[in-house]
Amino acid sequence: MGLRIVMLGAPGAGKGTQAIRMAAKMGIPHISTGDIFRKNLREGTDLGKKVQGYLNSGALVPDAVTCEIVADRLQETDCANGYILDGFPRSVPQAEMLTDFLAKRDEKIEVAVNIDVPDTEIVDRLSARRSDPETGAVYNLKFNPPPAEIAEKLIQREDDKPDTVKTRLATYHETTEPIIAYYDEQGALKNIAGDKATPDEIYQRIMDILPN
Ligand code: AP5
Repeated sequence: MGLRIVMLGAPGAGKGTQAIRMAAKMGIPHISTGDIFRKNLREGTDLGKKVQGYLNSGALVPDAVTCEIVADRLQETDCANGYILDGFPRSVPQAEMLTDFLAKRDEKIEVAVNIDVPDTEIVDRLSARRSDPETGAVYNLKFNPPPAEIAEKLIQREDDKPDTVKTRLATYHETTEPIIAYYDEQGALKNIAGDKATPDEIYQRIMDILPN
């Protein structure tokens, strides 16, 4: 049986970078609500139109919209043996919804990995983030440079502009950070120092604390 894991941490803490590797290693899906919203934005779906304003300004999409999408996704067959949730939950109501949803299936979140990175480093990281629109791979011009042959096709996220990053960080501290205590109370919290180390070193720290 795989694990049900949530990734916690500020925008740019490295949740996506680590979740992609963990999911590949553990053979379970990586479910990123941000990726789901951005895909719908690119494809111009009704959901994309509904969430565009929130994403571009750095505000949270309303809980009702997000919770419905996650509940649908978790009922797909590839989630039967565990999954890694990245970017969800992001508010106490979302965390409570997830707990209730899982309890009805006699399930729970086994591990909440909280990647801790100071705000000053976050601003630095996000201004240099670039991603591959085809594979979803995430790079950093400063800390994790992409291979030269793909550099041209990489894109910068709309919400990585400095003013939007400030809004996202403020939203994080106000609305998302309280769920760290929520998972601590449930006995699922694992804190990982996420700065002054390479993505490989952070990955090793995470693998070391995950139950076998
Ligand atoms: P989302 O896509 O979830 O963005 P986020 O939480 O702001 O997180 P990021 O993707 O920015 O960062 P990350 O922690 O994954 O870092 P990464 O690995 O890329 O959400 C976007 C928007 O969608 C939200 O603002 C909201 O509007 C909406 N949304 C999503 N979920 C929602 C929800 N549940 N409820 C409501 N609204 C929701 O790394 C960052 C950079 O650092 C990269 O360049 C990387 O290469 C680099 N890096 C990684 N590790 C290291 C390291 N160890 N050292 C140096 N650099 C590193």
